[in-house]
Amino acid sequence: MCGIVGYIGKRDSAPLLLEGLQRLEYRGYDSAGLAIHSSGTGKNAGLRTAKTKGRVRDLQERIPKRFTGTVGIAHTRWATHGAPNDLNAHPHVDAAEKVAVVHNGIIDNAAELRAKLTAEGVELASETDTEVVSHLIGLAQGETLEARVQEALRSVEGTYGIAVLHEEFPDRIVVARNGSPVVLGIGEHEMFVASDVAALVSHTRQIVTLDDGEMATITAGDYRTYTTEGSRTSTSPETVEWAAESYDMGGHDTYMHKEIAEQADAVDRVLRGRIDDRFATVHLGGLNLDPREARTMRRVKILGCGSAYHAGMIGAQLIEELARIPADAEPASEFRYRNPVVDPDTLYIAVSQSGETYDTLAAVQELKRKGARVLGVVNVVGSAIARAADGGLYVHAGPEVCVVSTKCFTNTAVAFALLALHLGRIRDLSVADGRRIIEGLRKLPGQIDEVLGAEPDIEKLAGEYASARSMMFVGRVRGYPVAREASLKLKEVSYIHAEAYPASELKHGPLALIEPAVPTVAILPDDDLLEKNRATLEEIKARSGSILAIAHQNQEKADDTLLVPQNEPELDPILMGIPLQLLAYHTALKLGRDIDKPRNLAKSVTVE
Ligand code: F6R
Repeated sequence: MCGIVGYIGKRDSAPLLLEGLQRLEYRGYDSAGLAIHSSGTGKNAGLRTAKTKGRVRDLQERIPKRFTGTVGIAHTRWATHGAPNDLNAHPHVDAAEKVAVVHNGIIDNAAELRAKLTAEGVELASETDTEVVSHLIGLAQGETLEARVQEALRSVEGTYGIAVLHEEFPDRIVVARNGSPVVLGIGEHEMFVASDVAALVSHTRQIVTLDDGEMATITAGDYRTYTTEGSRTSTSPETVEWAAESYDMGGHDTYMHKEIAEQADAVDRVLRGRIDDRFATVHLGGLNLDPREARTMRRVKILGCGSAYHAGMIGAQLIEELARIPADAEPASEFRYRNPVVDPDTLYIAVSQSGETYDTLAAVQELKRKGARVLGVVNVVGSAIARAADGGLYVHAGPEVCVVSTKCFTNTAVAFALLALHLGRIRDLSVADGRRIIEGLRKLPGQIDEVLGAEPDIEKLAGEYASARSMMFVGRVRGYPVAREASLKLKEVSYIHAEAYPASELKHGPLALIEPAVPTVAILPDDDLLEKNRATLEEIKARSGSILAIAHQNQEKADDTLLVPQNEPELDPILMGIPLQLLAYHTALKLGRDIDKPRNLAKSVTVE
């Protein structure tokens, strides 16, 4: 949410910054801007900014002539304080226009600071929380830029990843992190800074990730890190796992399509090197959970938001079924506000693709503060949630750029199957059942490719459903999280209203919505609930509702059936969601939606 990029070196910064912003645009796309130390003369000298409402391509058109310089910072915005317009776009400058700041996060005491600055005679140009930081730095008295930023940050409460330029200190960029990610990229006689490695990997794979409370100064040839109090910290660069091409579209028209298509490989990756055939279990290196703890825990509580929460629902089901531990999933965003009872015998698991989602991170911090044991099931290596957790497992889905989650949802569900198998085999899951699940896991990549092979049929169906006013998604027990995720996917990318209900709940109210213009998608695995599910189809048909069944065999009552290959019943939900990702994609395509950047959304929700 909001992308930041900065460059200092020998090359002209503006083109590099624009390229970086394009790679970060999925984090926010309602306005964009950049500031450079201009190498020009006369009125073109010193700190110059260009910013606009709209996309990075709009900014590109707005860059003035002779806007050159080898030091700069840039931003792509997802509005929190103030509408998306030119004035609210970042960078924000101080009254003397000597300081420029780009910011990701939320300054909680912005209203108070705005009032204080106004009382001191400062005229604020925007409605943003960020602008106060520029003025505070501009007014600070320290001798160095670092001291001025530290002084300003002492008044600030909230979350931030910031990058700062100052006209009087043209040889450096100062950055600070508290709750919103900041990474440094180390090049040859040049340095980069960004809120996400996606902006850096085409230039360098050597990165340094800042911790909360940490700051850094980057110059063309060097960097140093220190705390907001000024004590030096020691950090050593790491090599980014993913090459620049992993962040490209690779011949697809959208990232969403690319990421759906990559799922067989992604699942292969999450399984690789983890299966232990001898003991019919899996090795999960980073779990940090000894067998005694795994045997004695009494409950599992899974926390995540949106698709991560839905993957957690599948995870809870798998843990109950395979490990026979009572487990449930809850939206992390709700959990932390309800003063939850934190139980020492419960294992808490935080789920997140980005590892940055503020609500999930805050839930983890609250749990840790109360002494709970928290594992992370996370995609982005080294992210805040991965670091805050006591242990966990990475889902290895690879970079997910489309705002809506697809491959990461699937890989997270598979990661939960691994965890459930691991816990199950420590507890009472038999060797035979362990082998059965392992066989099922091994079949998944091939079966995913089979599902994806049905894309032309799904595309045709999308043509029929694109005119729906609203859609209903239903599933029972294992099918319910699939229905929820499919409904979320459809509404996010196509903007068609959709509801998801447990099939058993339909008759308790939502049946009132069923009519010819409201089709139902029913998740119908061939398990012991199939007959009950068929009865639900009868109820819908009796109300003239049309039905698309996602099933293992043709369903007589359904108007259309999309057949999905059958796996082990516990693993079937993983496959059944995939055709519905394609249905959402093709429906959105038919409606001409901006698939990778749906309206009002952004990836990595780093605000409350
Ligand atoms: C839906 C989607 C969101 C995210 C949610 C959590 O397609 O992408 O619902 O799943 O914002 O994000 P992470 O997984 O990064 O914590």
